[in-house]
Amino acid sequence: MKTPARTRILAIETSCDETAIAILEARAEKIGVRFSILADKISSQVAIHAPFGGVVPNLAKREHQKNLVPLLLLALKESGLFKKSPLSLRPTTYALQPILEREPDLLKRFEKELPKIEKPQIDAVAVTYGPGLEPALWVGINFARALSKLWDLPLIPVNHLEGHICSAFMRPSAFHVPLSKHIFPLLTLIVSGGHTELVLTKNHLSHKILGETKDDAAGEAFDKVAKMLGLPYPGGPEISKHALKGNDKAYEFPRPMLSSPDLNFSFSGLKTSVLYKLQDIPKRNAKIVNDISASFQEAAVDVLVKKTERAFKKFHPKTVALGGGVAANDLLRERLKKTFPNVLLPEKAFTGDNAAMIGVAAYFLSKTKYVRPKEILKANGALKLS
Ligand code: KG4
Ligand code: ZN
Repeated sequence: MKTPARTRILAIETSCDETAIAILEARAEKIGVRFSILADKISSQVAIHAPFGGVVPNLAKREHQKNLVPLLLLALKESGLFKKSPLSLRPTTYALQPILEREPDLLKRFEKELPKIEKPQIDAVAVTYGPGLEPALWVGINFARALSKLWDLPLIPVNHLEGHICSAFMRPSAFHVPLSKHIFPLLTLIVSGGHTELVLTKNHLSHKILGETKDDAAGEAFDKVAKMLGLPYPGGPEISKHALKGNDKAYEFPRPMLSSPDLNFSFSGLKTSVLYKLQDIPKRNAKIVNDISASFQEAAVDVLVKKTERAFKKFHPKTVALGGGVAANDLLRERLKKTFPNVLLPEKAFTGDNAAMIGVAAYFLSKTKYVRPKEILKANGALKLS
């Protein structure tokens, strides 16, 4: 795709339990790319999944179907790109039925609302196509394909993790991503509910996984330990809140794989060790919950930071960055800052899943990686960075 001096991208993210749509404007400048966030909308499903203690894929799929069209209208209005279509010019959405036939609820909403609006002034549609929950990913992909066909726009498929890597550069409303020669090689610690990876990025299109978790992701371990302690889902923020009042030396938890020479992680042994400790304590009180939270968090953060340090010493990157939901953890941010004073930490508004980060990643992919409206794009729940 040719990228004009000013490129506007509509980005869609539905890989897990957040339905998100953003509209970004990117301008290539001498010192890098200047991004303006024209709209950034998220509809969180946390309350819906909380009673189940985790994300239920089919519920997520149902909610994405419900949320996408209203979110699109809100995003277009927020960006100033919303224009009602005069009745006589209403385009037909009939041809889009095959694309949306597996999402009947979404199709109904699409057919009701989309003919009423004019094609907005955007240059491309971007969508997360993996990794994530496939039923959830498919809804976003099919919606994006339908929009791309309706408005005759290229479609840019984005790896969700490329979005988390970009999030470290983002600031609310407007920000710069510096020229490649000032950033790369970039070492990113990605820590979320589904991933724990150390990634070395050579340029916006090429990544190498230096190490990854062999079992649970860091966020998953926070969520599971929180559940053992009787704390609500999602557990990460709960653990860090209780840890503030606890003693991080009260319990000695293991630092799995810290002494192994590679850059991989493992959190399941740490989680099990918390479970065994709790079995030894028949009666729990607030102090025990706080102390276990603090001691567990200390062990998890210790491993994350030390492995990042090891990767740094081995690969000498120009920049170190953090991304993913667990990047909201204050202890992790503090320790990384202490170890790497110039580390790029994402704003807390962009640590969790959002579509703006997908839009930023899409911009850098847009010159080489896009599909025409007619082509098929498939969800890939196990998509890897490459
Ligand atoms: O990136 P994200 O929003 O979704 C995935 O792609 O997985 O990450 C969600 C994860 C959850 O496991 C949540 O418990 C964790 O991020 N999390 C935290 C904190 N805030 C969110 N973990 C530790 N400390 C936090 N403050
Ligand atoms: Zn994520």
